[in-house]
Amino acid sequence: MKLTDRYGRRIKDLRISVTPRCNFHCVYCHPLGLEMTDPPGTVSVADVAHFVQAGVILGAESVRFTGGEPLVRKELPEMIAAAREAGVEDVAVTTNGTLLRRRLPELMEAGLRRVNISLDARDPEVFRRLTRGGDIRQVWEGIEAALAAGLHPVKLNAVVIRGENDGEVVPLAELTLERPLHMRYIEYMHLNNAPFEEYRAQFVPGAETRRRIEEAFGPLEPVDTDPSAPARAFRIPGALGTVGFINPVSEPFCSNCSRLRLTSDKKLRPCLLTELELDIAPAFDAEDPVEALLDAILGGADQKPAFGNTLPTRRQRVMLGIGG
Ligand code: 5AD
Ligand code: SF4
Repeated sequence: MKLTDRYGRRIKDLRISVTPRCNFHCVYCHPLGLEMTDPPGTVSVADVAHFVQAGVILGAESVRFTGGEPLVRKELPEMIAAAREAGVEDVAVTTNGTLLRRRLPELMEAGLRRVNISLDARDPEVFRRLTRGGDIRQVWEGIEAALAAGLHPVKLNAVVIRGENDGEVVPLAELTLERPLHMRYIEYMHLNNAPFEEYRAQFVPGAETRRRIEEAFGPLEPVDTDPSAPARAFRIPGALGTVGFINPVSEPFCSNCSRLRLTSDKKLRPCLLTELELDIAPAFDAEDPVEALLDAILGGADQKPAFGNTLPTRRQRVMLGIGG
């Protein structure tokens, strides 16, 4: 079966947040405060297996594990293996990269195909400020490990924030010249309950980011991309990698949205930018969880809104635990 929602969108990409914990505290994402353990009721390996099995029956084609930081979760390899066993080829993680070098072998053995690594700056001090203490060297080790292991593609994500890392746009683009890295610039979304005026002052439209890159390297060449992918990709002439722009605020891609999210506390989140969450925890404990989850997912798809709200607004829940 191929699941489509009320607006004719094919729902085929599952995003599963496996923990609210993170070893970074990025300003655009993370509230201060340190959780050392996952709260009771956090999604388990069996939960992931059942959720993906139900998703596959409904036509899911990809699973992306997010967090928090998914690599802090000890059972992540088992979760990846469960997704592969359920029949999903395209299994990816979005990670801050710090634990990647150490954990990559077990993740690949479990069937991991792709990684997205957050890298918001090249300058170590700018990086440290944005991540509130993160060490960029660890992330670099992770990126090098992913390249050396032959993962393809290796995508890098930067959220562009004026006054924080907008000066890093060009140095980050430079990374694509000699390595097959796919740098993606993401418009800052108001998901962290920042003061509205501060957010407005810090927002940088993707068109401006692109202009900065073209001023430095000349006109970008378009690269063929999946039309349902949120990033439009380009190449600096002669570069090995690509640069792409994900513009959820200035160019919303809701009409192509194919995603359904499971939060780490077992709520179905039909849209990142709409507060609606369906508590589907009981389905995971049903006698036949896959059967119960089929209904839950159908219900979630049915309530997926036509578009999300990118306006600054007071949100009940920040990014963490929803997953990027
Ligand atoms: N705006 C845009 N992207 C965000 N992410 C997290 N918070 C935000 C935000 N406020 C994305 C980042 C990160 C991934 C986990 O989620 O790209 O790499
Ligand atoms: Fe952690 Fe990723 Fe959020 Fe940064 S964006 S705080 S690395 S979950």
